Amino acid sequence: MTDAPATDAPATAGASKESLTVRDNRTGVEYDLKITDNTIRAADLGQIKLGDQPGLATYDPGFVNTASCRSSVTYIDGDKGILEYRGYPIEQLAENSSFLEVAYLLIHGALPTKAEYDAWEHEITYHTFVHENVKSFMEGFRYDAHPMGMLMASVGALSTFYPDARNITDPDNRHIQMVRMIAKMPTLGAWSFRHAQGKPFIYPDNDLSYTANFLSMLFKMSEKKYGADERLVKALDTLFILHADHEQNASTNAVRSVGSTQVDPYSAVAAGVGALYGPLHGGANEAVLRMLRRIGSKQNIPAFIEGVKNGNEKLMGFGHRVYKNYDPRAKIIKKSAEDVFAVTGTNPLLEIALELEKIALEDEYFVKRRLYPNVDFYSGLIYEAFQFPPEMFTVLFAIGRTPGWLAQWLELVQDKDQKIARPKQIYTGERGLDFVPSSERWA
Ligand code: SDX
Repeated sequence: MTDAPATDAPATAGASKESLTVRDNRTGVEYDLKITDNTIRAADLGQIKLGDQPGLATYDPGFVNTASCRSSVTYIDGDKGILEYRGYPIEQLAENSSFLEVAYLLIHGALPTKAEYDAWEHEITYHTFVHENVKSFMEGFRYDAHPMGMLMASVGALSTFYPDARNITDPDNRHIQMVRMIAKMPTLGAWSFRHAQGKPFIYPDNDLSYTANFLSMLFKMSEKKYGADERLVKALDTLFILHADHEQNASTNAVRSVGSTQVDPYSAVAAGVGALYGPLHGGANEAVLRMLRRIGSKQNIPAFIEGVKNGNEKLMGFGHRVYKNYDPRAKIIKKSAEDVFAVTGTNPLLEIALELEKIALEDEYFVKRRLYPNVDFYSGLIYEAFQFPPEMFTVLFAIGRTPGWLAQWLELVQDKDQKIARPKQIYTGERGLDFVPSSERWA
């Protein structure tokens, strides 16, 4: 803080170039705030006071312009439509890698050697089973329970099967819990699906790859071995890669916030599943399908667009807090759709989606607000082609996002800068009221 005289003097003498000089016009005092990584520390505003009032804080609903952490996991440039995991462009990973390799990359920070990958794949494969009590726990849900509610509850329940997961400072313990979660998420997701379908649960088949095993637990019936079409396995594996991480989105923020209390990773990830469930976040892919079905035909699109403009509708699958350009994942998913439809036949709703996108990309309302298709706009069409019901779409998102949530959680628990998440508020309620007992109030 500098007690510079209340003048219009330029930057405070001696202030470093990488700083902000702010003048509190209430007192005429000027302050130099250090700029680091294009941010100022909100805590530095605390020195700016008027009399005995508390120092200044920032007010940022939805953290629209607030960095909560330093992270090296994922980089996004929203204006340029760039997404990189640990520095690798998503386009290259989607084209040339596998979901398990990307999961290794996100968590370990580097691509694996062959030996490291083989060990990783072996560990994941041999941790896909869950305790039999988890099965009976899941059988207790209502017949029509939403799979995301079941997934959120069963991930949280895993914390009771692995109480040693609370020891979050032990690297080996952290490792085995992360392996378990990545390995078991498909089992829990598949069993949520089978429960809703009233079908028997299928156990993991360790002869199959991660994604082929997931498809087997979803769709196997009386056949000895379930053999999914390799093109579908590849398409779903690519979709998992595209969903694997996305810096500080709402569900990752939930995982970090809950994880900041030093709770076990299962409880932190269960919070992430809950956040992802919402229609503004991961639940959007389910909402897109319902929206397309409701539109029903290309002829109804103009009326629907009018509904969006007058605030009665939201164009689900469009818009993004960060991408003010086309979501790079949506581009790749659109391409994956062709591979899937070559096997399953085209989804009739695709025509409506393509026409909706075409109109929206030319319409001033959307152009002005820089609203483009996001990851959820086309993914639902592919999932439906896989014969998934819409309520399963976000479960698929959660399976893909699990390594990202864990990589972010791991970064959090090792970050010396991090503290328990406890934001301030602006109090708008009453003060100093005298309590009147109900016997008098109701007399
Ligand atoms: C995901 O954060 C992530 O990284 C998320 C994600 C990930 O990988 O983790 O990318 C996954 O969640 C993708 C987003 C899926 N959600 C949807 O498709 C739901 C529809 N989209 C919106 O609800 C919205 O675009 C959000 C929630 C995605 C972003 O909201 P913001 O950043 O808070 O933007 P906003 O609501 O302030 O909107 C700015 C303007 C507003 O208009 P005005 O008030 O200025 O007139 O754009 C309008 C909004 O009304 N707007 C939309 C719209 N999205 C924003 N209008 C119509 N339809 C939309 N979809």
